[in-house]
Amino acid sequence: MTAGPGRRAFPEGFVWGTATASYQIEGAVAENGRGPSIWDVFSHTPGRTLNGDTGDVACDHYHRWEQDLDLVAEMGLASYRFSVAWPRIAPSGTGPVNEAGLDFYERLVDGLLARGIDPMLTLYHWDLPQWLEDDGGWLSRDTAWRFAEYAGVVAARLGDRVRHFTTFNEPYCTALLGYGSGVHAPGVRGIETALTAAHHLNLAHGLGVVALRAHAARDIDVSVVLNVGQVYPASDDPGDVLAARHVDDLSNRIFLEPMLRGRYPETLLEEMSTHTDWGFVHDGDLALAHQPLDVLGVNFYSPSRICGPRPGLVNDQASSPATGRWVDDPAGAATPAPTPWPATDRAWSVPQPGPYTDMGWRIEPEAFTDLLLRLSTDYPEIPMMVTENGCAYDDGPGPDGRVRDDRRIDYLRAHLAAVHTAIEKGADIRGYYLWSLLDNFEWALGYAKRFGLVHVDYDTLVRTPKDSARWYRDVVKANALS
Ligand code: FCB
Repeated sequence: MTAGPGRRAFPEGFVWGTATASYQIEGAVAENGRGPSIWDVFSHTPGRTLNGDTGDVACDHYHRWEQDLDLVAEMGLASYRFSVAWPRIAPSGTGPVNEAGLDFYERLVDGLLARGIDPMLTLYHWDLPQWLEDDGGWLSRDTAWRFAEYAGVVAARLGDRVRHFTTFNEPYCTALLGYGSGVHAPGVRGIETALTAAHHLNLAHGLGVVALRAHAARDIDVSVVLNVGQVYPASDDPGDVLAARHVDDLSNRIFLEPMLRGRYPETLLEEMSTHTDWGFVHDGDLALAHQPLDVLGVNFYSPSRICGPRPGLVNDQASSPATGRWVDDPAGAATPAPTPWPATDRAWSVPQPGPYTDMGWRIEPEAFTDLLLRLSTDYPEIPMMVTENGCAYDDGPGPDGRVRDDRRIDYLRAHLAAVHTAIEKGADIRGYYLWSLLDNFEWALGYAKRFGLVHVDYDTLVRTPKDSARWYRDVVKANALS
């Protein structure tokens, strides 16, 4: 790795890619035997998503995938990360596997290979089949075994061609947002429910890893993708330091430790014992969750700053999971209030100064370096892959048709430099997947937030590569930042 003046070269063989997820881009929700997912039901429930947006059409990638893969190829990317929609494979609880669903992903994988692009397949990017939710979803242990069956079916069909499999994308969001704060599907609120879901996801991950390896026709790399949060205490106050450690346990180590060490943090078990007796953790579960992994996928967007309970701060999470307030400011007019961290009454997320992206997320690339170095210190044995990083900015085509998204280029340059610094300081980072190929359905925020390298006109579905796509192509070609 050389770094001439102003130039930062990445290691030889560094993997450059981009990422998407099934429900965010595919559309075609009722085609070729696909059953409903929890995100179909959630997004069609009034009040759950901004403007009532749904993934019914999304980017229509299901029909336009060839054009989309051409866009990936034009950027010279070595790899493409996508997810399989479980409800295309297992549309109902009783019927057989839906071969038409598998056929779609087989065409996609063959299309990638034909273009010289290495597929990285995620099994679960949040679109649980609704029939499984009706049977208890991630609150039911049985879902972990259903996940392993599904993993085996996908590996049996595609494991002769796909080399990189990921079990879960961001189980934090599934457990703490889906079954904690309720802002994601299926919209369940609670503390014990969030912890129960987290445990069943850990269990399902382990069972899934075993099933993938058992059914793939050749050696595969298996990973999990975690949005490990870079959590800083808001101040040196011991209460804030403790709260930040608590959030690290609850959002990061609750997955890292079972999957990579076969245990839950003692501090987490103790601190959450007022909410649960952890009876859902059965003997042997942690050994099952702890399977050898080849790569740790890391998603990073923005850090957070955490404070502990303070006089004047009311946690009214029970009435409104998204808002905290200061009692001495009943009008809520003063400084923006911290928001309660999902699924805990011990920690608050403090508003941070800008600059921000359109998500309201603070831009702080140094936090990315801190995070990667922390992971490489705590889990030195496992190589890392940046599986998501990117930013939302609402830039559209100008009168000349060109999309000038300079703010995205600035964000990417700074964050790639942050990855480079972490590599220089010894972190074993094998590649970088930019989120996202296309503007797409940004979950509860609908189509309002545009993360794509490629602009999508949602009326015409026309794709327009942004300036950032050309900039990224040049970085990839040089394998360096200049
Ligand atoms: C991550 C998700 C991804 C996308 C980005 C912005 O949490 O994995 O689907 O929504 O955030």
